[in-house]
Amino acid sequence: MALASSFDDGSLRLDGSLLASHVANSAVDKLMPDVERVVKTIQECSGEGSDFLGWLDPSEMIQGEELDRIKKTSLRLREKTDLLVVIGIGGSYLGARACYDALRPNIQKPGELVFAGTNMSARYHRDILHSLLGRAWAINVISKSGTTTEPGISFRLLRKALEDKLESDASGNIVATTDANKGALRTLADEKRWETFVVPDDVGGRYSVLTPVGLFPLAYAGVDIDALIGGAGECAIACREKNIERNPALFYAIARHLLYKSGLAMEILCSFEPRLEQLIEWWKQLYGESEGKDHSGLFPSGLIFSRDLHSLGQWVQDGPRVHFETFLGIENGEPSLTVPEIGEGGSLDGLDYLAGRELSEINAVAQEATRLAHADGGCPNMGLYLQKMDAYHLGVLIYFFEYACAVSGYLNGINPFNQPGVEVYKRRMFELLGKPKS
Ligand code: PA5
Repeated sequence: MALASSFDDGSLRLDGSLLASHVANSAVDKLMPDVERVVKTIQECSGEGSDFLGWLDPSEMIQGEELDRIKKTSLRLREKTDLLVVIGIGGSYLGARACYDALRPNIQKPGELVFAGTNMSARYHRDILHSLLGRAWAINVISKSGTTTEPGISFRLLRKALEDKLESDASGNIVATTDANKGALRTLADEKRWETFVVPDDVGGRYSVLTPVGLFPLAYAGVDIDALIGGAGECAIACREKNIERNPALFYAIARHLLYKSGLAMEILCSFEPRLEQLIEWWKQLYGESEGKDHSGLFPSGLIFSRDLHSLGQWVQDGPRVHFETFLGIENGEPSLTVPEIGEGGSLDGLDYLAGRELSEINAVAQEATRLAHADGGCPNMGLYLQKMDAYHLGVLIYFFEYACAVSGYLNGINPFNQPGVEVYKRRMFELLGKPKS
C-alpha cells in the first residue's frame, strides 16, 4: 500500500508507513474496482440507504436563513443566561459534545454547555439539577424522532425545574431541535410555541453534527460555526479525488477494510490529546452504528494516551492480535509549555535532560515511540494528523470520517445509514415499562 496520503491543502494527512507489512499493494489493486464502484454509488446516490445522504454536501445541509436564526437565537439566549443544558442521546448528543470539548480552548469567552439525557440515573440527574441552582440557564432539547425515552425523561425533569424557577413562563428559554412534522417533541413544541430547529429528513443522527443538532449548541458555546461548515465543505471537494495518495479518506477506508478482511476485528482510535476523547466517542458511534450489521463489522474502540498506556497498553502490546490502531494527532498550534529548570537539588528527579524542551515535542516523541512499539508487537497502525485544531480543521476531520465511513460501509456490503439493532433494546424496554401502544 502507498506509504502516505494527504489532502492537497495539507489540512489532514495519513501516515501508513507502519501498515506496509500487513496491507499488500496487490490487495489494494484488487480492491480498487470495488472502491470505484462504491464511490460512484455514493456520488449517484444509488446505494442502499441513499435517502440518508443529505450530509454529502455540507453547504446544502443548512440554508442561510436557518443559519442566521441559529446565530440570532444563540445570541439572544447568551444575553440572558450563562449556561445551556443540551438534552439528547446518540447522534443527537455526541457531535456537539465532541466539538465543544475539542474547541473550547480556542474560544475566548465560551458559553457553558452541560449535557443531559444520555442515561436515566437518578443520582446523575439530581447532581445536574443541583448544579443549576443559582445559575441563569436555558434548555436545548434535541431528538429527531421526538420519542426517545432517556432524553424525554431528562427533559421532563429539567423543564419542570426551569418552569418552577421562572415561574411558569419558561418558553423563551427552551429551544427544541426535532423533525419538521412528526413526533411527540414536535407536537409539544408547536403547542407551547417554543422556538424550534429542524433535523433534516435525509440526515441520520450520527451524521447530524453539521445540522442544527450540533450547530445550535455550538453557536451558543461561541464556536465559529461558519468555519466548521466551511472546513467540511472543502473536505467534501477534496474527497472527490480518486488518487488515494491525495485522498486520505479513501486511503483510510481501504486500509481498515483490508485490515478487517485480514482477520483483525477491532480498530482502536487513540490520541495523545485528552480533549479529543469525546471526538473518539463520536467516531465510535459513527462507525459502530454504521458498520455493525449482519454479524460483521469492525469493533470501534478508543483510548487516550499516555493515560491508557499504563492500563490497557499492556493488552494492546501483548494481548491477542485482533486489533489495529489509528493514532489521531494535531500537528501545529498547540500552546507552548517547556519543562522547567529547577534550582538546587532539582535534578534528583532525573529529568534534567528534558529541561527546556517543549511538552508538545515530548508528547509527539511518545506517540512515535508508541506507534513503533505497537507495530513491533504485531499491531499495525496508521497516523492521522490534523494540521491544527480549530473550527475549520475540525470541520475537515468530521467530513473525512463521515465520507470514509460511507465508503467503508458499502465496501462491507451493508447499508451504512440505518441502525435496526438500536431499536431492539427500545422495543424490549417499552414492553417491560408497559408503554401504551400508539
Ligand atoms: O444515530 C442515530 O440515529 C441514533 O443514535 C440516534 O441519534 C439516537 O437514538 C437518538 O435518537 P433521537 O434523536 O430520535 O432521540
